[in-house]
Amino acid sequence: MIRKEMKLGVNVDHVATLREARKTDYPDPALGALLAEYGGCDSVVAHLREDRRHIKEEDIILIKGAIKIPFNLEMSINKDIVSFAVNLKPQKATLVPEKRKELTTEGGVDLVTHYTRVKKAVERLKKEGIEVSLFIDPVKSQIVKAKNMGVEVVEFNTGRYSESKTKTERDKEIEKLKQAVCYAKEQGFFVAAGHGLEYENVKDIVKIKEIEELNIGHSIISQAVFVGIVQAVEEMVELINK
Ligand code: PXP
Repeated sequence: MIRKEMKLGVNVDHVATLREARKTDYPDPALGALLAEYGGCDSVVAHLREDRRHIKEEDIILIKGAIKIPFNLEMSINKDIVSFAVNLKPQKATLVPEKRKELTTEGGVDLVTHYTRVKKAVERLKKEGIEVSLFIDPVKSQIVKAKNMGVEVVEFNTGRYSESKTKTERDKEIEKLKQAVCYAKEQGFFVAAGHGLEYENVKDIVKIKEIEELNIGHSIISQAVFVGIVQAVEEMVELINK
């Protein structure tokens, strides 16, 4: 058994993306979640998007019922989705911004601009005993607002790091991330990170030992097309815990 220093949450949205490409009833994201658990991840993540383009309510219910590890529901602060989460009671809810036309989540929630609306959703979820995580950019002003909201978990958006084209840009993003992680740890947060991480670019991220959890979806499900989900997850777990 590998001693784990960093946890891995596997996002299974793209199992459903494949299903929706043909509007079939396969592949089943709940089976994907079970296999990811078998591969050694620590939690399963799925995003119920407002347009239901991949994951549907039924998938979420099946996933949560199938796995023994915690389920992390990624969601916007849309009132109906918050109500769904309140009924479902996932172990964790990660609040993300959502735009209909985006291909995937773009940027973190802007807590400075949307403080009151996000706080309302946080309070509704926390009242039900759901742990709330805020997906934010690695910026001090966002961490300060998260602290004011009484949240204990933040997930830093690694999107800009993942998309950086040059070494200079990449080093700059890593440095920003390191500083944000240190500040968030000083403030007592459980620190997660994710977005756009794959088997190569994750190597520099795992060097930031203060990060406690990575949430990864697209690259793992892509690798699973060739090697299966169990092996794809095992390969990532090994990289994270080297
Ligand atoms: N974390 C959050 C908050 C996300 O929105 C996403 C994308 O759904 C991920 C992690 C995983 O990103 P990726 O699919 O690029 O690995």
